[in-house]
Amino acid sequence: MPSSIIALNDVNAGYGKFQVLFGVSMAADYREITVIVGPNGSGKSTLLRTIFGLTSIYSGEVIFKNINITSKKPHEIAKLGIAYLPQLENVFLNLTVKENILLATYIHEGETMDIEEAIGLFPQLKALFERKASTLSGGERQMLAMTMALLRKPSLMLLDEPTANMAPKIAKLIFEKIIELKENYNIPVILVEQNAKKALEIGDKAYLLVAGRKIFEGLPQELLEKPDLTKVYLGID
Ligand SMILES: Nc1ncnc2c1ncn2[C@@H]1O[C@H](COP(=O)(O)OP(=O)(O)O)[C@@H](O)[C@H]1O
Ligand SMILES: [Mg+2]
Repeated sequence: MPSSIIALNDVNAGYGKFQVLFGVSMAADYREITVIVGPNGSGKSTLLRTIFGLTSIYSGEVIFKNINITSKKPHEIAKLGIAYLPQLENVFLNLTVKENILLATYIHEGETMDIEEAIGLFPQLKALFERKASTLSGGERQMLAMTMALLRKPSLMLLDEPTANMAPKIAKLIFEKIIELKENYNIPVILVEQNAKKALEIGDKAYLLVAGRKIFEGLPQELLEKPDLTKVYLGID
């Protein structure tokens, strides 16, 4: 088994003619949390969308488990086992928690995880089953979205700022659960975070994107030891 579950090779991508990513190469390994950090507007979300087939790729390639997915459509990529959680609009607001969970299993083509097993990640959702998703807090909504993704038994999860605008206590819980995804559910994660310090603390590997270019790749600890980068680009002192 190769160590990388996914690799981007020299990817140039953007929206229509507006190029955002410039020659980005990266890899995420099985059993690892790969963290992508960088200032606002540096292309972090675009990188996840590029993996999921939601941007225009001008050149380069995206290889997932030895399959070239560069020109595949999002639903094909989902079917191959990649779950993508955008920062917003990741649950159906007009449905209850339970309906969201059931829907996640119905609309998935392929095997799904047992609901009890998936709920094990966030057992607190059980008490919220009858609540409309629109009435949930940001943290609860994120828990629901992660559970819905988990139900599809993905082999890779892409999380875009799962702790954005959350109280530190909830953010801490979400970070713990990302570790649990890796360790208990065996799901590698590519994590995009504004909350760079915390993300780097739980990451196994880190990439720093600035203006659509990769300017650091290595161990999170190595990045944290480069104040010239972390101060300027991540606001870490
Ligand atoms: N759907 C879109 N259409 C056109 N440009 C976009 C779109 N989404 C993001 N952009 C642009 O791409 C650049 C990178 O954005 P983004 O990937 O969201 O950065 P980040 O997630 O690092 O904050 C920004 O200049 C942004 O304005
Ligand atoms: Mg973003």
